Amino acid sequence: MAPFWVGTGWKMNHTRADAAAYAATLRASPLPRAPGLQLFVCPPFTALATVADGLGDCPVKVAAQNIHWAAAGAHTGEISAAMVADCGATMAELGHSERRHDIGETDEEIGRKVRAALDAGLIALLCVGETRLERRAGAAIEATVRQLKLGLGDVAADELKRCLVAYEPVWAIGEGGVPCSPADAASVHAALRAAMAEKAGAVGVVPPVLYGGSVNLENCRALAAEPEIDGLFVGRAAWQAEGLLAVAEAALEVRRQRTA
Ligand code: PGA
Repeated sequence: MAPFWVGTGWKMNHTRADAAAYAATLRASPLPRAPGLQLFVCPPFTALATVADGLGDCPVKVAAQNIHWAAAGAHTGEISAAMVADCGATMAELGHSERRHDIGETDEEIGRKVRAALDAGLIALLCVGETRLERRAGAAIEATVRQLKLGLGDVAADELKRCLVAYEPVWAIGEGGVPCSPADAASVHAALRAAMAEKAGAVGVVPPVLYGGSVNLENCRALAAEPEIDGLFVGRAAWQAEGLLAVAEAALEVRRQRTA
């Protein structure tokens, strides 16, 4: 059975000391080895190696929060896929809404980054999600599927097995965000899955679709109970390791009941 994914993006938080303590807490817990669960963390670049080294053989995947599309060269201040892999990352988070909106990343750039991640042997975690305006206008699915298609535009059907998608509506993310209802998330997830099934054809595997945006211990059970949701991508509520473990444990329990 495919695992339920639970991960967290630390955004611009945590020093190396914090990161070492976080990794040590995960390592001391039996939860990362629980059948049916796959945990991941997305630390800032500066803490990638600390987390990867601190986790050791603990099966929590480590993801960079961004990479550059080029393999190397004259790109001051940028970090390549090979560099994050060298620090122990096996995944790259790409297209998070804060990068789309704060930094102005375009769908074209995100597509190139997805390509670079796959070329370097990383799992590409593509984040997509509509703005409040797009949802109000009834264009949530259209906007999200467009981001998906452009983000995966250069990915071959047989490479989809190395991709993950996170649906993160912009209006649901961060302080003041309103979590999406499981039913609303399910309808977008179904549309994303349908678009990927078309691309996958007979040879490809449709990637898991995770939900992110104000996930916490209160709402994670209802989200995990929704069959269209293959995982949860948590921000603030998992910036401490105990938070990630609590959400993961609650979600896994619901998931097990559902499949029992
Ligand atoms: P949040 O962040 O849980 O703090 O809303 C989610 C995200 O940005 O992935």
